[in-house]
Amino acid sequence: MKIISLVGARPQFIKAAPVGRALRAEECEVVLVHTGQHYDNEMSAIFFRELEIPKPDYNLGVGSGSHGWQTGQMLIQIEEALLEEKPDWMLVYGDTNSTLAGALAAAKLHVPVAHVEAGLRSYNRRMPEEINRVLTDHASDLLFCPTQTAVDNLTRENITRGVHNVGDVMYDAVLHNIKLAKKSSKVLEELDLEPGKYLLATVHRPVNTDNEDNLRNILMALNTLNEVIVFPAHPRVRKAINRQGLHINSHIQLIKPVGYLDMLTLEKAARMILTDSGGVQKEAYWLGVPCVTLREETEWVETVQAGWNVLVGPDAKQIIETVNVFQPPRERPNLFGDGRASQYIAASLVGSEVSSQKNGARPPRFL
Ligand code: UD1
Ligand code: UDP
Repeated sequence: MKIISLVGARPQFIKAAPVGRALRAEECEVVLVHTGQHYDNEMSAIFFRELEIPKPDYNLGVGSGSHGWQTGQMLIQIEEALLEEKPDWMLVYGDTNSTLAGALAAAKLHVPVAHVEAGLRSYNRRMPEEINRVLTDHASDLLFCPTQTAVDNLTRENITRGVHNVGDVMYDAVLHNIKLAKKSSKVLEELDLEPGKYLLATVHRPVNTDNEDNLRNILMALNTLNEVIVFPAHPRVRKAINRQGLHINSHIQLIKPVGYLDMLTLEKAARMILTDSGGVQKEAYWLGVPCVTLREETEWVETVQAGWNVLVGPDAKQIIETVNVFQPPRERPNLFGDGRASQYIAASLVGSEVSSQKNGARPPRFL
């Protein structure tokens, strides 16, 4: 069986790594297509090296641009790859413009689409990702959901065929890489950080980077907090900080984006994480680190319901208060599968049954 695995942005490399391994174990031919949505070394190549992802068979080199331009360029070139390869499946991940372009190009050519991380909803249509998710799910034949909430979201949109709750492939990735990170990452020494004595921050959503007031408020909060803060800056937020000429106090280490092994190390040893990232909210949960999410809503409602994640809009006073008082409960239920989501996905694609899986059946593997 031939499968196109379509990636383009940082979180997709992380998701595609365990899924690709599982597909190869099922003897699938995996054709890796990289749209080139992310292209800096720290946003792309470093993940291929660290996660031992094979070199892409196609790099479309699309790069950055407006939504319409970027998605359009991808559509044109993905269609060409599909016509050349004639795969049995198009496999897409998450909710980026690359995801939507892959799903749309394939569906129009009657190539069945499988969506990893299906059913996520923020119910905020101003997020570009929300449009991408909804359209991708409606174009998909197999929908691999990370949680029961995602299955329920699809049911409300009358999507019930081909839906599987397999757990979260990002959990697979954390389980696979945390030991490697412990062995090989030197980031704490390099940045002179003491475990439990710093905050980790990431910001990249348009709502926080493209809205001047929101970014100013978030940085005001970080500048005021009386703790060391490590802030690996996505190029989008770096550009916005420069554009607005915003000041960064010296207790904040504004650094380049880091590789995945360094990121896991920074997350695990942080006292608390402040983020607007989807993936980072879940990693905070799996690694047992309290998370303050710099957004008004989240797709990962389970982490909030479990008491480990607090939603805080871009309000400096609220951010500071929350960071100073937030204490998560002792319990941390296992809500994202059993760490074998990738195997269930591969088994389902090659036609063997997806094993039934009871969320919550096993305790988290690291407390
Ligand atoms: C994209 C996804 C978002 C995901 C994020 C992961 C969409 C609509 N958004 O957002 O869902 O959470 O990736 O990180 O698909 N840039 C560089 N170098 C790079 C990549 C980007 O400098 O290697 C800069 C460019 O100025 C670009 C900007 O970052 O315009 C935004 O990049 P883009 O891929 O359009 O969106 P992200 O904000 O990265
Ligand atoms: N990440 C990383 N280095 C960084 C920031 C994030 O390796 O400097 C990882 C993070 O651990 C998570 C993924 O990138 O696995 C999340 O990607 P991002 O926040 O860009 O996108 P989102 O998950 O919000 O779509």
